[in-house]
Formats: sequence, C-alpha cells, structure tokens
Amino acid sequence: MTSALAVYSGALRRDTARLRLLDTAGRPLRHVDTNLWQRLRPGDRTILDRCAAPTLDVGCGPGRLVGALAGAGIPALGIDISTTAVRLARRRGARAVTADVFGDVPEAGQWSRALLADGNIGIGGDPARLLRRCATLIRRHGHVLVEADPPGTGGWSGAAVLHDGDRGSTPFPWALVGADQLHHHAYAAGLRVIESWNEDGRWFACLSR
Ligand SMILES: C[S@@+](CC[C@H](N)C(=O)[O-])C[C@H]1O[C@@H](n2cnc3c(N)ncnc32)[C@H](O)[C@@H]1O
Repeated sequence: MTSALAVYSGALRRDTARLRLLDTAGRPLRHVDTNLWQRLRPGDRTILDRCAAPTLDVGCGPGRLVGALAGAGIPALGIDISTTAVRLARRRGARAVTADVFGDVPEAGQWSRALLADGNIGIGGDPARLLRRCATLIRRHGHVLVEADPPGTGGWSGAAVLHDGDRGSTPFPWALVGADQLHHHAYAAGLRVIESWNEDGRWFACLSR
C-alpha cells in the first residue's frame, strides 16, 4: 500500500491529477482537484484581505495563499508535511517549511493569523484538537481563519483513503466540517466564531479566543 503523502505528492508533481477522498468502505467523501490549489480562485481574496498581519498557512500545499501574501509584502509562512508541496510553494517565492502542525512549528505563539483553507480543518481527523493546537500558534488577539463545507452538509470524521484512479493510499485520519458545525468545534477548543461569510459557494469563518 502507498502512503497518502506519496499519492498526494505524485498528484502535485503531475499537475493534472484529480484525486478522490473515500472512506475505508470505498464510499466517496469528496473530489480533490489539486489544480484548484495552483492559482488563486474565487473566494481566496476574502481570506487574503483578512491577513494583513503575520500569517501561518497551515497545510499550505503548493502555496497559492502564502505566495500571494508574500507577494503583497505580508510576513507569511507555509507549513506542510509534504516536501513536494513545500518545494512548489518555495518556487513561487513563498517562505515554506516541511512541518507537522502538531509538531515543532516556527514562531509558534507569535502568529497573528493561522489559516486552515481548502478543508484543512480536517487535518488529523479531530477538528477541536486541531483548533486547540492552532490556538497555541497564534498570539493572544490572533485569529484562526477556517474554510468549512457548506452548512447542512453534515460532518464526518474517521479513516480516509486518497485514490488517484490507479492506487489507493493507506488510511489516514481526516474530518469534514460543515460551516454550521464550526461553533461547536470552536467552543470545544476554547475559541469562538466572531465572523462568518461565504463567497462563490465557499464558506469561511474567523475564530478568536
Ligand atoms: C486539502 S490540502 C490543502 C491544500 C492547500 N491549502 C493549498 O492551498 O494548496 C491539505 C494539505 O494539508 C497538508 N497536511 C496534512 N496533514 C498535515 C499536518 N499534520 N501538518 C501540516 N500539513 C498537513 C497536506 O500535505 C496538504 O498539502
């Protein structure tokens, strides 16, 4: 079996890959089009406009958001467990390092913003734990900006598999969170939702202590 990181990194390298996220019974959870992460898309501006201060992009992927912030002169760092993603992010001029959000993170506790875009609220399979961790990465009055699924779509957490059409990965923990469920996870993490908005079918929220 192939690790999820190998399937994901292979997709990033091929630049055209469509992946599917499945549960371990093979039921589809969502389509993952890595092309969507290569360049800014509708809705991204609404996140970037709220990042006028030092920003940590958690699970930055190929770095379109952290790259745009760097281009605008805003101090920003992308972290990702995929070395391929980090290399692609650096190639576009972003500052990015290979790091696990639950491990050592540069300048932990000093960031004004932490981003969880593109469904990254699912990292680790336990949204409250991830938000609790993000709360330790931001400074006292910092914000965690989260992209969620549309309200009413229901949540999911468990073991997921990434499939690229040819091969499936070993299972890894992941979660899906609807915008209407964010309050609950935020509360469990000692945070609260202070703003929520949507654009072009994408749903976002700003969380603070
Ligand atoms: C849904 S993709 C998001 C892509 C990204 N936001 C972008 O703009 O391209 C999830 C990303 O989170 C990364 N990731 C998964 N687990 C992680 C962890 N524990 N720490 C840091 N990054 C992680 C993956 O490698 C992947 O790049």
